[in-house]
Amino acid sequence: MPLPTARTVADLRAQVRAWKAEGLSVGLVPTMGALHEGHLSLVRLAGQRADRVVASLFVNPTQFAPHEDFAAYPRDEARDARLLAEAGCALLYAPTVPAMYAPDASTTVAVAGVSEPLDGAARPGHFAGVATVVTKLLLQAAPDVAVFGEKDYQQLVVIRRLVRDLDIPVEIIGGPTMRAPDGLALSSRNAYLSAAERAQAPALHQALVQAANRLRAGEAVARVEADAANALRAAGFSRIDYVEARNADSLERLGPGLLAGPARLLAAAVLGKTRLIDNLAV
Ligand code: PAF
Repeated sequence: MPLPTARTVADLRAQVRAWKAEGLSVGLVPTMGALHEGHLSLVRLAGQRADRVVASLFVNPTQFAPHEDFAAYPRDEARDARLLAEAGCALLYAPTVPAMYAPDASTTVAVAGVSEPLDGAARPGHFAGVATVVTKLLLQAAPDVAVFGEKDYQQLVVIRRLVRDLDIPVEIIGGPTMRAPDGLALSSRNAYLSAAERAQAPALHQALVQAANRLRAGEAVARVEADAANALRAAGFSRIDYVEARNADSLERLGPGLLAGPARLLAAAVLGKTRLIDNLAV
């Protein structure tokens, strides 16, 4: 049976209201489509935490810079809907751009601090686009829980912060990163890699694993970060946006010496024309 699909906020809310009237809890998994096993693991996780799972599919134009891949971003709703249904999703929410944004929409959610370094510095405006659309999705679907992948770790931190700061009544759950057998984090953008680039790409995860081990062994943060960046250059990455260890909650820089408290290693680097990101708990 085809997956029921809501195209408007009103249709989405009617279904969620009906479920809640039956006493059922609702989980939301926001996506931009081009689904892979990583997304489906988030749908299954939402299914363990809520009675009904809604997945949204919306390629959000406001989180892409003009030179980025909004137009080229892979789109195949029929395939995505089939995969979502198999993973236990009960409703697809796939609004059009005009249904999501009024032509004169003028409100933006800006999360200071945690959205400024790393991808916030490399992709100006990106997190304002993410924070605004995620706030809208949470207000539209009013889920009990919402699940986001740890693959986009900074995004997860930004979303936890805005939910706390704006008192949005939802529990945010992070789902672990799914990886190919060679360690490459699953990502819709892996589809852009040539065969040769795909063979080089696992170096990103390997560099993070090695750096995390050295940090755990007590080596100096700055030295470990510099060596990881050099390893990526040696593996064929043409631009390293960052390889940094940061506080896992605040994303603040760590002191130059030993680790104190939970830290996260985060990296973004370009292979050919494709920008890859990854991260690891330390
Ligand atoms: O992670 C994504 O796919 C997107 O940034 C999200 C959370 C669906 C918002 O557009």
